[in-house]
This record gives sequence, C-alpha cells and structure tokens, in this order.
Amino acid sequence: METTKVALIFGAGPNIGRHVADALSEKGYKVALASRTNHGTDQYKRNQIHIPIDLTRPENVPGVFDQVKNEFGTFPSVVVYNGALRIPNDPEDPLSLSSFKIQDYNSSMSVNTTSVLLALQHAVAGFRTLPASATIKTFIFTGNVLNLVTVPGVLTFGITKSATAYAIRSLVDTKVYQKDGIRCVLLTSRLPCHLYRRRTETFPFPPFTEYIYLGQIHIAKH
Ligand SMILES: NC(=O)c1ccc[n+]([C@@H]2O[C@H](COP(=O)([O-])OP(=O)(O)OC[C@H]3O[C@@H](n4cnc5c(N)ncnc54)[C@H](OP(=O)(O)O)[C@@H]3O)[C@@H](O)[C@H]2O)c1
Repeated sequence: METTKVALIFGAGPNIGRHVADALSEKGYKVALASRTNHGTDQYKRNQIHIPIDLTRPENVPGVFDQVKNEFGTFPSVVVYNGALRIPNDPEDPLSLSSFKIQDYNSSMSVNTTSVLLALQHAVAGFRTLPASATIKTFIFTGNVLNLVTVPGVLTFGITKSATAYAIRSLVDTKVYQKDGIRCVLLTSRLPCHLYRRRTETFPFPPFTEYIYLGQIHIAKH
C-alpha cells in the first residue's frame, strides 16, 4: 500500500516557499503551508492547506505538526523551513541605538533560529513515527550565504541565519540521524568563484555533497 506523502513548509511566501510547495504538489504530496499570510492554496485541486502561524512565537511551532497530522492523517516526511525575518542594520553604524534594537534582535532570533530548531525537533520526532522504509525523511532549511561571508547592513540577519546554519551543518557532519533514515539539508546560495577559492584556502569548507545549492533543488528525488 502506498504511503500518503505529506510535506510541511514554514514560511510559504511568494518566492521559494510557494514554488517549493507547488513542486511538491506536482509530485503527489499533500502540502501544508504555514505562514502569517495565506499566499494562495489550492485545497481542492492540489491538496494544499494553509496553517496560520507567527514564527516570532516558537512555542506555536509544535501545534502546526499536530494540525498537519489531524488534517492529513500522518506527520510530514518532508519539512522545509523557509521562514525568514530580515531587519536591516545601519551599514555605517550597525550597533547604534537606532540601528540595533533588542526587540528586533529577539524577533529575528525567534524566526530565523529558535523556531527552526523547534521545527527540526518536531520533524525528527514525527519522522520516527513513519514507517522505516516508506519514504525519504527530509528536513530542509533555506539558508543563505551569510554564514560564509560578511555583508554590510545585515548584522542581525547574518547572526541569526548563521546560528541555524551551524546547527544543520553539525547534524549533517556528525550524521547523527542518518541511522534513522533522516536527511538534514542546508540550502545555500552559490558563492561567487573568487570567494569560494578564498574560503577554501583559508578554512576547511563544509563537504558540499550533503549541501544543495538553491539552483539545484531536485524535488524529483522524493
Ligand atoms: N529568494 C532567493 O533567491 C534567495 C536566495 C538566497 C537565499 N534565500 C534565503 O531564503 C530564505 C527565504 O527567502 P524567500 O525569498 O523565499 O523569502 P520570502 O518569500 O519573503 O519568504 C519568507 C517567509 O517568511 C515568513 N515570515 C517572516 N516572518 C514571519 C513570522 N513572524 N511568522 C511567520 N512567518 C514569517 C513570511 O511570511 P509572510 O508571507 O506571512 O510574510 C514568508 O512566508 C531567506 O532566508 C533568504 O535569505 C533566498
């Protein structure tokens, strides 16, 4: 008997989230799109539902998994975290009182880091309830280049995205969940060639066999 394929996307905005949702629907997944705003779901033709959530409140994350299970009858086997809060800082004086505000920092940490870790925690717990051989169990975090290079004006965004990138990279590198058939993926943008060369010369670059570039998402694998 074929298992129901279910995916959950946090931060199903108009760019990556929405398009990944549609790509997964094309592959026969029932897809839950969790974000503040409903950017359009096609419940009847495509088996998509919208779940409202404010990701500045990490304590709300576990309830989303329960809603998915209630709606689709199973926990998701693919979880994508694409929620992102980018509050710019002054590139000339990033830590000035007007540029760096603790409430902005805390909100960014919640959306870009804490809620991701909770989503990952509950994704892993849900994956473990799925049949061992039934499906690929994958958690994908849409990172960016900020854990590899510094960019003016995005201090808060860079700190909070980098913290999560570290978490995903450590799970990938230590292979802790591999025995459970669980795959964690850090999606990152391709580095410009000169930076790539510079970085490889200066510190050990992560083994990119387990990292997927944004331009090369092969949903077909699922
Ligand atoms: N697009 C690219 O080409 C690209 C390239 C490299 C890296 N990235 C990285 O990928 C990530 C996503 O990019 P994107 O272009 O797909 O952005 P996006 O379309 O703006 O999606 C971000 C999502 O985060 C959600 N979000 C923000 N704050 C939230 C909150 N408090 N509660 C709930 N949801 C919240 C937004 O929800 P609402 O819809 O409700 O506002 C939106 O759905 C970013 O980290 C970005 O750096 C993107």
